Amino acid sequence: MPSDRLSLCRGHTSMTKDAPATGRQKYTGAGGVNIRNARHPFYDFCEEALSDIRAQGRYRTFTPLARDVERFPVYEEERPLPLPPRDVVVWSTNDYLGMGAEDEVCEAAIAAIREFGTGAGGTRNIAGTHPMHARLESALAELHGKEAGLLFNSGYMSNLASLQTILTSMPGWICFSDQKNHASMIAGIKGARGATTVIYKHNDLEDLEAKLAAAPADAPKLIAFESVYSMDGDISDIPGTCALARKYDALTYLDEVHAVGLYGEQGGGVSQRDKAAADVDIIEGTLAKSFGAHGGYIVANHQIVDYLRSCASGFIFTTSLPPSIVAAALTSVRLVREQNWRREALFERVDTFRNRLRSANIPFIMTPSHIVPIPIGNAEICSRISKRLLNEFGIYATPINYPTVERGSERLRITPGPRHTDEMMGQLIDALGQLLREELPHTQEKAA
Ligand SMILES: Cc1ncc(COP(=O)(O)O)c(C=O)c1O
Repeated sequence: MPSDRLSLCRGHTSMTKDAPATGRQKYTGAGGVNIRNARHPFYDFCEEALSDIRAQGRYRTFTPLARDVERFPVYEEERPLPLPPRDVVVWSTNDYLGMGAEDEVCEAAIAAIREFGTGAGGTRNIAGTHPMHARLESALAELHGKEAGLLFNSGYMSNLASLQTILTSMPGWICFSDQKNHASMIAGIKGARGATTVIYKHNDLEDLEAKLAAAPADAPKLIAFESVYSMDGDISDIPGTCALARKYDALTYLDEVHAVGLYGEQGGGVSQRDKAAADVDIIEGTLAKSFGAHGGYIVANHQIVDYLRSCASGFIFTTSLPPSIVAAALTSVRLVREQNWRREALFERVDTFRNRLRSANIPFIMTPSHIVPIPIGNAEICSRISKRLLNEFGIYATPINYPTVERGSERLRITPGPRHTDEMMGQLIDALGQLLREELPHTQEKAA
């Protein structure tokens, strides 16, 4: 039964009283005074832009979900009063291994708060470097077999700050960027004024080579790519990309955000699994997904790390990660590294899920990773199926629509994890079967 534990959050909500905490609330100024009558044209601009966004079906609403640490992946959904919260099984978390709900990880954070308080209280330069920051940077460097590591406040920031800083360092940089790179990499690349960007076809080494060959031989070059692409679940050819980098004298920058913790014998990512980590110049990762904590990082050799530490604005001018988060991450990285059974458990669940989907004739996109996309092919139907899963079955699966994926390739993105039981799986498959039959009868006939 859902408890009243959400009352803690309710008491502190900053939303207006008459609106539920769903992301559809009316925002007010300080002290609850509505500032809607302000005269600046930006207010009207927002209104118009938002009605366009709504008309295109791109308006964002959030489902307020409170994780139940003892019953993960069960969450409690907060609903508009007087409706009580209800249990929801989440099938789309990026805390792939459930480390954010592990006792040892939570206890490390709690103990650190008791001992060191909540926030870090300063930038790394202004009394905000706890000894644990340096320890975590070393642990991450060791995990990836690199000389040094650097923490950022998110994976997003590590990409943005590192790429922007590198690409504005020397004159004439050319950045070769995979067409499907994450928004945070694009933000860093676009923010590098003076650098040239060449976008190559997704995971297409022939296209990359043609573009490298066409570039001036003496220009400094960087290839920016990911290992696991999280929306399609496909995996890049790291050794092949690094071979091209060597041939054309380019630096390599690899985002392993959706791979760290999961691939490689110690969770060092696909580059570890493919024995290619030594060939990659800069590996970027997150502590917020498989490690269940928060923050981002890069690892590389000491010159590059030292340069970014000294010059990356997004590293320097922000309060550092709180000690509690660093303590949680340190514990989680150690456990994930030592305990291969966690990875085995995840991939067993992924295999079982795919087999059960096959038996139930539910179409899915086969990927070489842990990500299981269920193709829907229509934005409206995709959002409706996701809503119905939640409202009728207490199941949460994220709909992925344009612009995250191309129009016509809308899908539900499912990430089975070690704590999804056979029973939960059965409930999801029954619910999906019913909803697909009702919402997409033609696809279902074909699948059968
Ligand atoms: C490929 C990729 N890189 C970077 C990030 C940002 O990581 P974080 O969530 O730690 O900010 C994400 C987030 O989903 C991502 O998918």
